[in-house]
Amino acid sequence: MTSPETVHPVGIIGGTGLTTLSGLEITGEKEVGTPWGTPSAPLVEGRLGDQPVIFLSRHGNPRRISPHQVNYRANLRALYDAGARTVIGVNAVGGIHKDMGPAQVVIPDQIIDYTWGRASTFFEGDLASVTHIDFTWPYDERARQVLIDVAGAEEVPFSGFGVYGATQGPRLETAAEIIRMERDGCDLVGMTGMPEAVLAAELGMRYVCLGLVVNWAAGKSDHIITMAEIEEAIERGMSGVRRILESSVAGLGALTPLPQPS
Ligand code: HPA
Repeated sequence: MTSPETVHPVGIIGGTGLTTLSGLEITGEKEVGTPWGTPSAPLVEGRLGDQPVIFLSRHGNPRRISPHQVNYRANLRALYDAGARTVIGVNAVGGIHKDMGPAQVVIPDQIIDYTWGRASTFFEGDLASVTHIDFTWPYDERARQVLIDVAGAEEVPFSGFGVYGATQGPRLETAAEIIRMERDGCDLVGMTGMPEAVLAAELGMRYVCLGLVVNWAAGKSDHIITMAEIEEAIERGMSGVRRILESSVAGLGALTPLPQPS
């Protein structure tokens, strides 16, 4: 039996298409502050089944904060302070790999970071010593396996690998940029995967990405990218994402927290 004080809520950061979490039995909503500023929205506390979760809308609710202006440090620190030690980042992405078309769920295993000018570390300012964390495997493998097992059991079509290329936005990419990213090894492109993943790692949290492809990346189809296409893919794919979330939080909550970085 786990004693009550060792139960950690699972943090869920919702992105485009997931500003609120239906199915969440809400027990409270908290406006919080952190030494790094205010998170994108109040923390919504509740339960999915028996598992305590904390939901945070990455772009605010209503959705008003651009990917490059999200205060990622405040978001991660707020979830940490609220007790979360495992976080799922739900991300809408563009598909580059031929098997990652609209409405496909992807649980990536690697990241290439093309963002710039974002506050991307907690380790700056008046430090006792310079710190470099290991980031070889940016996503927590145990948490990834939970999502992969659940996606399989729920029969949601998904890819259990993929390199997430994080771009600055808010504009979408040029076709040439996508060709370059493909040459680099990227399978997906999104604007919010970084610095979210590295900040979670700096706090010693397990972090995993649940990606939903909402469009073919620029130049990967015979048409330009439209909001109508994105909305249609969200409509088609989000029920699978919600099913995976609902069925995976218990397994994620049961993972032992990682040792805290010293
Ligand atoms: N590029 C970058 N970010 C995205 C895309 C895209 O095509 N689709 C959804 N987020």
